[in-house]
Amino acid sequence: MPVYLKDDTTGHIRVSLNRIKRVARILLKLRGHQDSELSILFLDDPAMHQLNKTYRQKDKPTNVLAFPMLDADIVESQPLLGDVVISLETTAREAQEKNITIHHRVTELLIHGLLHLLGYDHERSPREAKIMESEEQKLSKLLSYEQRRNQMIKLAINIDHVATLRQARGINEPDPITAAGICELAGAAGIVVHLREDRRHIQDRDVLLLRQTVKTKLNLEMGATEEIIKIALALKPDMITLVPEKRKELTTEGGLNVAGQLTNLKKVVKRMSAANIPVSMFIDPNSEQIEASKEAGATFVEIHTGRYSDAANEEEEEKEFDLIATAAEEAFEAGLRVNAGHGLNYLNTSRVAALGTIEELSIGHAVMARAIFVGLDQAVREMLALIK
Ligand code: PXP
Repeated sequence: MPVYLKDDTTGHIRVSLNRIKRVARILLKLRGHQDSELSILFLDDPAMHQLNKTYRQKDKPTNVLAFPMLDADIVESQPLLGDVVISLETTAREAQEKNITIHHRVTELLIHGLLHLLGYDHERSPREAKIMESEEQKLSKLLSYEQRRNQMIKLAINIDHVATLRQARGINEPDPITAAGICELAGAAGIVVHLREDRRHIQDRDVLLLRQTVKTKLNLEMGATEEIIKIALALKPDMITLVPEKRKELTTEGGLNVAGQLTNLKKVVKRMSAANIPVSMFIDPNSEQIEASKEAGATFVEIHTGRYSDAANEEEEEKEFDLIATAAEEAFEAGLRVNAGHGLNYLNTSRVAALGTIEELSIGHAVMARAIFVGLDQAVREMLALIK
């Protein structure tokens, strides 16, 4: 699937050529042209102006021009599609006007140019313009779907146990704030803390400091109680994960029964949305809870991997793994973003990480347990190596 990309600009507008090549390959595949050859050329406005004048008699630069290799009616069997020429200067201006990234705008123009190469033409008639526009929308949707699936999985580290150790002595170390920094430097993409009603580990002071210091993403795990909701709304973490919380449990035991408290959870999601805080529902891997999470307006679900991790034998582990795989697929297809976690360790995580539908894993205990022996930095790096 050769995509040739040439940058003939002066280089003052920078784009990632590799990223654009990747996008072009996915687009070709989505259109069933994985074996075709496509050339992309980036120019500045003066060169684009010249081309536009020569080939379209238009005395000004434009954003994109498409030059099909051969006649449109034989293109379906033809491996050489042609050239898409894009002016990066015009693209950058348009991106700014539309308040989108330059890569986003290049992608839109690439889709437009590619469809021209495949025989679509909005200039032929209003009807054809409509058809082309609808194809553009379809292709753009399929592209983001493809990009979301199989994206690189991320690791978020739950640092509650650092606070547990501190609280055991009632003094001020080890400090979870330092732990968060070490995890981030080791490559964690996020920090997770659970501010429990009984404050058994993470304290109010911790979440306030973490909000100021976490550079990646702060995910606040919480029960849906009024006291903690108010704290979250004031704190504005990057996201919250709603979990069931029982005072006597050692750790979060089961998934949240979203279906059973839909009315209440809808209200919580609404309040969080008003503060721009995405909500994740920590749920057992089953359809009813996925549907309810969707209906509640959640952005994410976090699939509970506890039963898989605690499986007593191989057969049980297989069964639980299948449930996780199916639930992750179902949630992904429903348009939810999918995380997973609980009980994952250095032996059972890679399979879950390889599913392709899961965006992020939330891991605490196993990493902290290993950190005692090898140090936190190494423990995080070893887990990262396993999931990538
Ligand atoms: N996800 C959620 C929602 C949790 O409650 C926990 C435990 O605090 C985890 C992930 C991490 O679980 P573990 O500490 O077993 O890795």
